[in-house]
Amino acid sequence: MKGIILAGGSGTRLYPLTQCVSKQLLAVYDKPMIYYPLSTLMLFGITEILIISTPQDTPNIKKLFSNGEHLGLNITYKVQSHPNGIAEAFILGKDFIKDSPVCLILGDNIFYMQSQIQEYRAKIKEKTDFATVFGYHVSDPQRFGVIEFDKSNHVISIEEKPKHPKSNYAVTGLYFYPSDVCTKAATLLPSARGELEITDLNKMYLAANKLNVIPLKRGTAWLDAGTPDSLMESSQFVQIIEQRQGLKLACIEEIAYRQGFINEKQMKTLIKNLKDGSAYKKYLQKVYEEKHDLY
Ligand code: DAU
Repeated sequence: MKGIILAGGSGTRLYPLTQCVSKQLLAVYDKPMIYYPLSTLMLFGITEILIISTPQDTPNIKKLFSNGEHLGLNITYKVQSHPNGIAEAFILGKDFIKDSPVCLILGDNIFYMQSQIQEYRAKIKEKTDFATVFGYHVSDPQRFGVIEFDKSNHVISIEEKPKHPKSNYAVTGLYFYPSDVCTKAATLLPSARGELEITDLNKMYLAANKLNVIPLKRGTAWLDAGTPDSLMESSQFVQIIEQRQGLKLACIEEIAYRQGFINEKQMKTLIKNLKDGSAYKKYLQKVYEEKHDLY
């Protein structure tokens, strides 16, 4: 399974914060926003990753992660010259995806799934020729793609930002597709707002009876940090969990180590190469020295 992080767009809803800095590099509490979607891919066991962003922002994101080798990852980059829509990721990513299944995550989506991630991984593996999306119960569904279920919980429809939502279930920005996704994406036409819509792509899988919707359970959190309020809420959410537990969310170095993407020696070198004096480095030293897996 390969992974794509879509981290472009114009960040209009966060203006003027995004005047000089890309949305995905803004802080979500103690780390750049893009650490969170990257950590989700890593927790799904994905190490081959393509990051798509704007011509201006791609060089800065490269500065953050380089080729990802220090994290046991293989990260490559692709520029999206214009925000032509989320589904364009599968046109730009065609050579990267080749004949592999692929996971797409939006660069402003933050997931807190804890151990349930193992259950979701197994469910995705069971249905390799299906597209899988996640539904999350929200109070403001008109902001999102919305899923309509029948009485037996089968999906009937998906609508993009409907004025009159048929349910409270939003489609989150985490999508798993079989390798035919590039062929399907190539047939998409721009919507009324001029974008290749991810919802139109999901509708194709629904029409072919190949759409698997997993409702995220209670206790999982999904935040979309694309507005001033949701950015603030995301920071507060991360701060509360991290301060209470003394454990970090989306600490990509810790995840690389615990997932076995890097060994002890590589972890030691990685920590040594970080600038002294940050709480982040101290945290990683503690993770390394304690060497246990209780949490
Ligand atoms: O967050 C989940 C929602 O994401 C879904 O429920 C919707 O179905 C889906 O359309 C999308 O809605 P948004 O209104 O949040 O999409 P937005 O235009 O904000 O783009 C999401 C991210 O993708 C954002 O970080 C910018 C990036 N992006 C977007 C477009 C359109 C790109 O990198 N390139 C693009 O062309």
